[in-house]
Amino acid sequence: MTIPITREQAIEILKKYNKSEDKSDWNHYLESEAIMKAVAEKLGRDKEYYGMLGLLHDVDWGITKNNTIEHLTKAPEILKEEGFDQEFIDNIVSHGCGFECAGLKDKKRTKEIEHILAAAETLTGLIHAYALMREGKISDMKAKGLKKKFKDKTFAAGCNREIIREIESVMPLDEFFEIAIRAIQDIKEEVGLE
Ligand SMILES: [Fe+2]
Repeated sequence: MTIPITREQAIEILKKYNKSEDKSDWNHYLESEAIMKAVAEKLGRDKEYYGMLGLLHDVDWGITKNNTIEHLTKAPEILKEEGFDQEFIDNIVSHGCGFECAGLKDKKRTKEIEHILAAAETLTGLIHAYALMREGKISDMKAKGLKKKFKDKTFAAGCNREIIREIESVMPLDEFFEIAIRAIQDIKEEVGLE
């Protein structure tokens, strides 16, 4: 599990393929990275590797979001060119399983790390939406409040609860919520929250 590039280089790659000024995409990348690192720390896994998965999981989003069926079709070659191995690439692509993109509609995630990435990147949407509902305040957000929003299917309806629940094969949902909130609190200024 070696990482061929630095975090700074990963940010440059993201900039290269994500030229839009849309801050919400960047927030999503940084929040996914933060949650992945926090989960890795909790489980005693490789923080750098997990963080890089979170940061780069949507590396081709900027060039495919106008035709989402192509999402994750460009990522493998981009990552290969940067020296990432097939395992890293497979881990990244797995977060599209079940979606109408890159031929992944009928594919299922099987590995723990795949479930963690999918749950983490999906949870960012729920947490960010909840923070915005709280006028951008995350510093005093509690897992209990987030759980209520999780249960309210009409809130941030695009956040697939079943995918977030994939974390339950790894840790309880409540613990995941606590870890994830803390992780985003730690980078709140970078993602426009307070
Ligand atoms: Fe994503």
